[in-house]
Amino acid sequence: MLVLDPCVFTIFGSTGHLSRTKLLPSLYHLEAENRLPESVAIVCVGRRPWNDETWRAEVTRWLEERIVDGLDADCLARFLSKVFYFLGDIGKEETFGLLKDYLEKTPAFPTNYVFYLSLPPAEYKMVAHRLALNGLNKEEAGWRRLVIEKPFGYDLEDANSLDHSLRLDFSENQLYRIDHYLGKETVQNVFVFRFANLLLEPLWNRNYIDHVQITHGEVAGIEDRAEFYDSAGALRDMIQSHLLQLLTLVAMEPPPNLDAESIRDEKVKVLKSIRPIPKNAVHAHAYRAQYGRGRLGDKNVPGYLEEKGIPETSTTETYAAVKLYIDNWRWRNVPFYLRTGKRMAESHSMISIRFRHPPQQLFRETQIQEIAPNWLLLGIQPEQFIRAELQVREPGIGMRTRKTILDASTCDATEGYHLDAYEALLLDVIEGDHSQFLRSDEVNWAWRIVDPILKVWAVERDFIPTYPAGTWGPQESNRLFEKESQAWRNNMGGDVCITD
Ligand code: BG6
Repeated sequence: MLVLDPCVFTIFGSTGHLSRTKLLPSLYHLEAENRLPESVAIVCVGRRPWNDETWRAEVTRWLEERIVDGLDADCLARFLSKVFYFLGDIGKEETFGLLKDYLEKTPAFPTNYVFYLSLPPAEYKMVAHRLALNGLNKEEAGWRRLVIEKPFGYDLEDANSLDHSLRLDFSENQLYRIDHYLGKETVQNVFVFRFANLLLEPLWNRNYIDHVQITHGEVAGIEDRAEFYDSAGALRDMIQSHLLQLLTLVAMEPPPNLDAESIRDEKVKVLKSIRPIPKNAVHAHAYRAQYGRGRLGDKNVPGYLEEKGIPETSTTETYAAVKLYIDNWRWRNVPFYLRTGKRMAESHSMISIRFRHPPQQLFRETQIQEIAPNWLLLGIQPEQFIRAELQVREPGIGMRTRKTILDASTCDATEGYHLDAYEALLLDVIEGDHSQFLRSDEVNWAWRIVDPILKVWAVERDFIPTYPAGTWGPQESNRLFEKESQAWRNNMGGDVCITD
């Protein structure tokens, strides 16, 4: 195992949703697995009048809620001894000078620093700049790394301005733009599956693939994130970041080696090749909707407009679907359909690749008539799988076929320890590995793709279609499909007998 540099891991926004639900539980897990550096201090910056002791009690409460397999008393004690509370208001400039003194003058603290901005995006620039004003970007006594959560900006222009401002104070090498999808095991497996198996390569192109679907459905609504979500919407929240990242992994060319830059160069090439959507074609390429009241299991759930903190006239989308084309030799004219939604029928994320029909309808005169196309399904969550759907002959008299599945899943949830996406990425930051983080140009190209859609939607604010909570979204989004034979695939293919 790699020996990691000792460091101080400072979290801004430590009382917020992400810190409570992901960052602190991930750091606890890493401690439990002995994956953290020998010497690490986790400094949590907050405004509430707490101290180390009250903070540790608070953290214990959150961990008790989150760690489903129970807390281990020894591990918890070890972990808490590394957790500190720094009382300070980031809105006040002097906080940063005091923080600097605290970090530098606490003898037990290591001299390498990670600063994690788990904050509303509007505060990134200010916090980064104030860190720099106090010399906390200078790498004289140790390395300094700044982790920024998505969304990186509000639109293309804002993202460029954020980028410009960050890079005045920090070098690209110090910046870690996190997209937690890149830390997910199956997402990393897409890369291995494609480039470690020669078998697929000849088929992985426009000659054999009819279309690709990337779906992210969530049963959950907006939880306690009304303010953030209502100003973001599904396109910014999921498609501009996570789903476009998945698309790049499916579509990229093999990189010359596994260096962070080589991988990111190939991903950027894909994003650059995506056909721009002119404003007058936005309706043909994108669809949005908002959940209304509905049922989840045996429970009635409120509509988006009834959620706490949402203005009753909001037209923010909780469902977004887009059709994209990649204009390069491999993919020209193969549609990539990306879809995401809150309050969907099921929580699952999956990449579904549909192959073309065989060129000759050889079985037309038999009972088979039309052969169902092959699908390759890459399950990201909750189940992680790689499945190929093939047709085989049904035993017995006559010529009939049935669907069978080749299951190449590698991940048995009961087998060994699996790093959660955040755990893997937090370790990468400490290790200084950028390969699963976004480069500045990558973010810029991703914004360029969605920006025309955002612009059109921003002015069309009078009306938004709705769908009942607990469903797969409006039928009308089917209008994005370029052929009648294409339809959203919701079925994960685990049961061979069920149809789409
Ligand atoms: C976040 C979005 O980035 O990803 C959330 O802001 C979304 O709205 C979440 O729920 C989904 O992540 P996961 O890992 O649960 O699929």
